[in-house]
Amino acid sequence: MRPFCYREGKLFCENVFLKDIADKVKTPFYVYSYNGIIYNFNRMKNALSRFNPLICYSLKANSSIALCKILSSLGAGADVVSGGELYLALCAGFPPQKIVYAGVGKTSEEIEYALEKNILLFNVESEEELEEIATISSRLGKKANIALRVNPDVDPETHDYITTGKIENKFGIDLEKARKLFEKIKKIKSLSPRGIHMHIGSQIKSIQPYIKAIQKVKEFIEEIQKKIDIKLDFFDIGGGFGIAYREEEKDFPLEEFADKITHILPKNMRLIVEPGRYIVGNSGALLTKVLYRKKGREKYFIVVDAGMNDLIRPSLYGTYHRVLPVEKESPHNILRKVSIVGPVCESGDFFVKDFDFPEIKKEKLIAILDAGAYGFSMSSNYNARPRCSEVLVKEEKWWVIREREEYEDLLKNQKFPDFIIPFWKMEATGNDFIVIDNRDRVISDRKEAAIRLCNRKKGIGADGLILIEEAEGADFFMRIFNPDGSEAEMCGNGARCAARFAYLKGIAGKICHFKTLSGIIEAKIDGEDVKIKMTDPSKFRKISGIKIDEENHSEFEGYYINTGVPHFVIFSSNLESISVKRIGSKIRFNRIFHPLGTNVDFVETENKRIKIRTYERGVEDETLSCGTGAAASAIVASIVKNLSPPISVLTRGGEVKVWFQKKEGKIYNVFLEGKANKVYKGYLNGGKNV
Ligand code: LLP
Repeated sequence: MRPFCYREGKLFCENVFLKDIADKVKTPFYVYSYNGIIYNFNRMKNALSRFNPLICYSLKANSSIALCKILSSLGAGADVVSGGELYLALCAGFPPQKIVYAGVGKTSEEIEYALEKNILLFNVESEEELEEIATISSRLGKKANIALRVNPDVDPETHDYITTGKIENKFGIDLEKARKLFEKIKKIKSLSPRGIHMHIGSQIKSIQPYIKAIQKVKEFIEEIQKKIDIKLDFFDIGGGFGIAYREEEKDFPLEEFADKITHILPKNMRLIVEPGRYIVGNSGALLTKVLYRKKGREKYFIVVDAGMNDLIRPSLYGTYHRVLPVEKESPHNILRKVSIVGPVCESGDFFVKDFDFPEIKKEKLIAILDAGAYGFSMSSNYNARPRCSEVLVKEEKWWVIREREEYEDLLKNQKFPDFIIPFWKMEATGNDFIVIDNRDRVISDRKEAAIRLCNRKKGIGADGLILIEEAEGADFFMRIFNPDGSEAEMCGNGARCAARFAYLKGIAGKICHFKTLSGIIEAKIDGEDVKIKMTDPSKFRKISGIKIDEENHSEFEGYYINTGVPHFVIFSSNLESISVKRIGSKIRFNRIFHPLGTNVDFVETENKRIKIRTYERGVEDETLSCGTGAAASAIVASIVKNLSPPISVLTRGGEVKVWFQKKEGKIYNVFLEGKANKVYKGYLNGGKNV
């Protein structure tokens, strides 16, 4: 079974021409053959069938969830080396009782997690780790299933970096020490000795090192079973079965291996194997596109769009991967001394060096074969390159099983330290705000920031935190948060500050449209003044006879109008003497205004100007100013007292102007104009002196 092969000069994965995928999916991407994985799994299952082994797929080779799911549904178990791999294995449906967990550095959290999930075996790599597992399992009232990973000290004849069973390697426990540890385990109630584990290396091509190691370990098992009287159930011989990376090579001879170990495997112990590469290695390829050809004085470089961040094996181990053009051009013009290199800024960023390759044009595709194992799983974001996508092919169909990362993903989980975040303190008719350009997500936890920064004693102090963010179809998105961290929909004074800030920072022009939670707002900037377009007023009507006090029968008369929120406007000749809070609250809760209630504005007219004091619903008190109240009062004054716009409105927090047009008794195009002042600029420093 060859998952990738040519048909009439075109490279296919199963029945899919690779170029057809590349026409839809951006290169580089990994492509895997479903049937290749199934074939490899069954090949191993059949070769070892006489042992009825538990085949624990080694997730480190490729932990993409779709591939893991395929293997779990074939009945495979899983070999994991971290809490993250355990998590993915469980998500992919591997039963905990088929999961083994190796690794020299299991943290206490990871141990606790694995204990809670009741995994089959901890493959323990040191005495201190053993003690840690004992302590945690006893605390949890559990019994941990233990296999000791022994180091048989044999040379697997593979690359130094992937040799794990020599005495100088960090892995496993030497046999002498392992004997003592088994004695120790027997005495610890929270530990249950279940097996022995070894893993001597990866990409092993000959059976000899395995035979040597198995023989050594078998003798060891016989000795301890006799001497210490321990019965072990599992013999886990690890993974490491090599594959053919070169045309002329052969995969690890599994059948021959099975024959040879038949007589040396200890009886009455279940065999566990942990293959990674053997299952997925040749089932995957990395697809990449030629960006440029570059003739050096001595060499010919083909620069492709995949880099060492996508497939690091050639750079890290100097290993060879077959590289094939996706379309064979005929007649072939063979180029000599070709190096296929990536865009990463390292001379080590290559896939092959100095070999013969058919001439290939710009934009053409190249497949790097046998990249299914330790390809994507070892990829990184080096050079800030988003991780590529993955595609699964089954017969003539294909699916994207992992989307390519976006640039935005490069920022995920990153935070700016406070001291490099600039903010402006702004003020508009008595409301003060902290305004921050958050288009780059300098503030990730908005609620936390609002609570911390708006605090008048411990923070900067403000009535609200305004964050300017990206919006589709508008110049920006104004998000405004109260000092308690809750998000407000809109605020007229805040909106003026946001618009002026955006204009001065070059985010928006003199006339801008910005998004708020209550819809799009139009603003016009004129020096320090900002005009905000308000919603057209509605529901105007006169209401008389509102009683607030049964005893002395005082009655109020006023005008109800909705300028975005409800207002009740009362004219008065002596504004200063009114107890706004007392009367305002009685009117606000009067049955006439149920269920919405109303804001209450007390208005004194003065030629072309009006003075107002407002009782605000929600705040339940008099506030320094209220944008919708100013608009309501001015409109009512124009209707009732014949004032014509623009009308100056003097609030306790400062002066605003209300503009509007009147036609056939209708009021429309209402703008509220007022100052938005920058008070000062600063940098957040989280309370520390930076
Ligand atoms: N079990 C244990 C405990 C392991 O450490 C490994 C691999 C395996 C099983 C699976 O080995 P496999 O069957 O895939 O050879 N990044 C290197 C390979 C590192 C292997 C690490 N351990 C490479 O790209 O060649």
